[in-house]
Amino acid sequence: MGLPDSVTLVEVGPRDGLQNEAGQIAVEDKLALIDGLGEAGLKVIETGSFVNPKWVPQMADSEAVFERLQRREGVRYSALTPNMQGFERALAAGADEVAVFGAASEAFSQKNINCSIADSLKRFEDVMAAASDNNVPVRGYVSCVLGCPYEGDVDPQKVCEVSLELLAMGCYEVSLGDTIGTGTAGSMQRLLDTVLPQIPPDKLAVHCHDTYGQALANILVALRTGIATVDASVAGLGGCPYAKGASGNVATEDVVYMLNGLGIDTGVDLDALVAVGQRISTALGRSNASRVGLAMTSR
Ligand code: HMG
Ligand code: MG
Repeated sequence: MGLPDSVTLVEVGPRDGLQNEAGQIAVEDKLALIDGLGEAGLKVIETGSFVNPKWVPQMADSEAVFERLQRREGVRYSALTPNMQGFERALAAGADEVAVFGAASEAFSQKNINCSIADSLKRFEDVMAAASDNNVPVRGYVSCVLGCPYEGDVDPQKVCEVSLELLAMGCYEVSLGDTIGTGTAGSMQRLLDTVLPQIPPDKLAVHCHDTYGQALANILVALRTGIATVDASVAGLGGCPYAKGASGNVATEDVVYMLNGLGIDTGVDLDALVAVGQRISTALGRSNASRVGLAMTSR
């Protein structure tokens, strides 16, 4: 299969990125980040997370972030909702869409959301019903699709089963999460060889953490199979609090640079995006984890 003409980027920096930062980040800094991302052309921005604030204190101010958001026309502002309590918070805050997040590994499911895979799917059914009543689209995540920090190898068929369940209960798309970034072009291809005969590519996204530096290669493999939605995090922010050692998602700047080189449209202004990545890195007092961001700011 050839490459897609255009790719939808799902910017997860304000959520997946900032949830893993050590210090507290001011709501103003979050708002400036989200606004900059919208201005740079990102159309889907994961803005916050309505989880237990004791577990992820960095997302405790998600209500305040949504409340003060300067909404841009055509941008979808989404949030994670693990259960009904999360969904109700997201609805009250005005999230345009929500995401439920499951895993293909039992151990990770227990550590991350404190229940088995089967129980998580039951919880999600309530969220799906409430979302449907309120016309809120729901995205699904499956974590650990290319490896688990506790269980090691993960069976691609298990990934497929959980993804199919999420789609059957009404998720419009499932994002396949390489939570710990151990995947390679080979393991991504093997995963998709199992998944794609059962799920069409337009129902799938890839969510690659870049811990082992393989994310761009893995994304390219996915694009060649027809998948055209890619999650990324500006400046490579983040990681996962329940996956020790996991680094951030692939940097959005790096994905845009690769896609520009392939002639694939994203609607994103790379110079503007690089400036946003540099600004949030400075605000956080960390180095910019985007190779493209670093290269372009040192020109
Ligand atoms: P639980 O302990 O099983 O929940 O947590 P519970 O229903 O037994 O409630 C326990 C307490 O949590 C109660 O408070 C509830 O009110 C509170 P207490 O009485 O003890 O004071 N609670 C909540 N508070 C606020 N909002 C809520 C909520 N739900 C319960 N929604 C739960 C279950 C899922 C909530 C918990 O385990 C949790 O918050 N986990 C955090 C998970 C998380 O945020 N992980 C990181 C995001 S996932 C990720 O990064 C992966 C991804 O990027 C894809 C990839 O990379 O693979 C998406
Ligand atoms: Mg993630």
